[in-house]
Amino acid sequence: MNQKWNTGTYDTDMAFVSQYGESLIELLKPAAGEFILDWGCGTGDLAAAIASRGAAVTGIDASPEMIAAARLKHPHLTFILADGQSYTAEPSADAVFSNAALHWLTDARGAAASIAASLRTGGRFVAEFGGKDNIASVVHGLPLAFAAAGCQDKLALPWYFPGIAEYTTLLEQSGLSASLALCYDRPTPLAGGEQGFVTWLNTFADGILSVLTPVQRGQVLAFMEQELRPQLFHDGVWVMDYRRIRVVAVKR
Ligand code: BEZ
Repeated sequence: MNQKWNTGTYDTDMAFVSQYGESLIELLKPAAGEFILDWGCGTGDLAAAIASRGAAVTGIDASPEMIAAARLKHPHLTFILADGQSYTAEPSADAVFSNAALHWLTDARGAAASIAASLRTGGRFVAEFGGKDNIASVVHGLPLAFAAAGCQDKLALPWYFPGIAEYTTLLEQSGLSASLALCYDRPTPLAGGEQGFVTWLNTFADGILSVLTPVQRGQVLAFMEQELRPQLFHDGVWVMDYRRIRVVAVKR
C-alpha cells in the first residue's frame, strides 16, 4: 500500500483527528518527568500537547512525510521514523499513547508485541482507533465503486478494524491487561462542505486510489460521492460513520 500523506491538507482539513485526540490525553494523565511514546504521531501535535504537561515525549511514525512535518513543527521534541509493528523503544517507556493510528497497522499482533516490549512493567497503554464497522459505508462502497469502474482486481483495503473482544484478547496474549475497553459510534463531521467527502477520500484512501489511472480514480470518487450522499450528507455537511475503540491497558 502506497499511502502518501499531504501533511498540509491533513493539518487543515482533517484537524478533527488531533482535536478528538485531546480527550484521550485526559485518559492518559501524563505526569511531569514521565517518558511517553506517541505511537503513530502524525504531525506531532498531540505529542506536543503531552510534552506541555512536563513529560518527555518521543513520537514514532512510519510515514517520512509525517515525521518531516512533525520535526519542523515541534523541533524541541524527538520524532523517529519507525514501523510501529516491529519497533522497540530503548529505554522502555512509562506509557504508550496512540490516537487514530493503530487501524493502519494490519500486523496487529506485531504492533501489540512492539508496544508491550516498549513499556516498563506497570507502564500503561492508552489508545483510540477504528473498531469493527468503522466507516462501514466506505468499506462496503469501495468494492462497488471499483467494480463499476472495471478495476475490482485492484482493490486492497489497508485497515484493521477489530471487535472489542478480539482486540482485548490480543492485548492479553501480548502481556497487556486491559482495564478499560469501549467501542462506540462517533459520527464525525467533515470540513469543506460539498467537497468534504472527496477530500477525505483523497487524504485517507490515497493509498487505495493511487493504483488507479486518473480516469478510474475520477470514476471511483464520483461513484462513492453519489452512492453515499443519502447516508452521509446532511444539511450541507458530510458526517463520517466513525466507530471507535478506546482502550487502557497495563504491562504485566
Ligand atoms: C479513522 O480514523 O477511523 C480512519 C481514518 C482513515 C481511514 C480509516 C479510518
